[in-house]
Amino acid sequence: MIYLDQSATSLHKPPEVVEAVRRGLSGEYGNPTRGAHTPALRALQEVALVRRAVSKYFDVSPLEVAFTFNATIALNMAIKGALTPQDRVLTTPYAHNSMLRPLYELQDMGMRLDIMPLDKHGCCPIELFVQYLHADTTAIALNPMSNVTGDIAPLDDIIRLCHQRDLLLILDLSQWAGTRAMPSVAQWPRTLIAFTGHKSLYGPQGTGGLINRGNVPLRPMISGGSGIHSFERQHPSTFPEVCEAGTVNLPGIMGLRAGMEWLMTTGQDKVQQHLSTLRERFISGMRTIPGVRLYGSQMADAGPVVSLNIGDLPAAVISDALNERYNIATRAGAHCAPLMHQALGTVEQGTVRFSFSFHNDDNEIDTAIEAIRTLSFQ
Ligand SMILES: Cc1ncc(COP(=O)(O)O)c(C=O)c1O
Repeated sequence: MIYLDQSATSLHKPPEVVEAVRRGLSGEYGNPTRGAHTPALRALQEVALVRRAVSKYFDVSPLEVAFTFNATIALNMAIKGALTPQDRVLTTPYAHNSMLRPLYELQDMGMRLDIMPLDKHGCCPIELFVQYLHADTTAIALNPMSNVTGDIAPLDDIIRLCHQRDLLLILDLSQWAGTRAMPSVAQWPRTLIAFTGHKSLYGPQGTGGLINRGNVPLRPMISGGSGIHSFERQHPSTFPEVCEAGTVNLPGIMGLRAGMEWLMTTGQDKVQQHLSTLRERFISGMRTIPGVRLYGSQMADAGPVVSLNIGDLPAAVISDALNERYNIATRAGAHCAPLMHQALGTVEQGTVRFSFSFHNDDNEIDTAIEAIRTLSFQ
């Protein structure tokens, strides 16, 4: 199988990840925040090591890292925990439903939500952010890498803008993390960063987290056992406990640490270089096929994601043919990004999405190009 659906989840995990999960299940680890016996303390120590690995990768303090079971939960915790109906929030068509739907829930309670348009290249330049900010805007909620086209928002400029205007930044790094370096954190404003473990950080499903820069106050979204303040009626509002009700996924986050350490050892720049070579090769091949329509800016330095269609064929027909006839895995449809499809005019047709991992090579890209070429003639 040629797996070109990394944006959904990474299929091939480094062997170190599999070994770390196995170790987590090997009978050595107790519950990290329940008990003071040796297996429990060993587990607690392991959680601290994972927190440190995450903080090293994102260049933040371990005290700013909370574990969640995926990016969706982290985004819900950030949006529903930090915002109120009194806020005014700006977002872009890149937003995934994991960000949009919690925003809509707050909008239904009175919060104002502004959605800026894309420019004619399918991008969101900083000028548009400035144009669509209002005097009473309090936050920007941003997915800086479209999971449909791979196009990226100017994150450094947006960070600067939030800093200057004292805006809260809620970031969805589900697609960004692991595919390119983090922007320099020196100028970070108050920021809540959601990330997922199972995509390009090469960790297991059921892992992810929320990073809280600037000690943004959060209301708990889920309450329950925290291992501390057991006689209080309310869940602690201190971070990270406010996000970590119940037992963490210890074998999962041990695997996440192994994935992130593999990434840091391999080198984030090397990974990014490989991904952009694959993307360029794929786009160049697609440009030689009549009838193929590519979406987005097609810029070389975008993320490792490409969306296309062949003529008026429904995207699902192409994706199914790739799977059944060529053993190539892609994803068809809306990719949980409805505003992007409204902007691209693909609400009915959807798009066929190809997304690349460090484990793909030139031969696989060439095979996919020839498969699309053959399908385009049928
Ligand atoms: C941009 C974006 N945000 C959020 C998510 C949701 O991630 P998770 O599966 O970790 O909840 C995804 C993945 O599907 C995504 O692509």
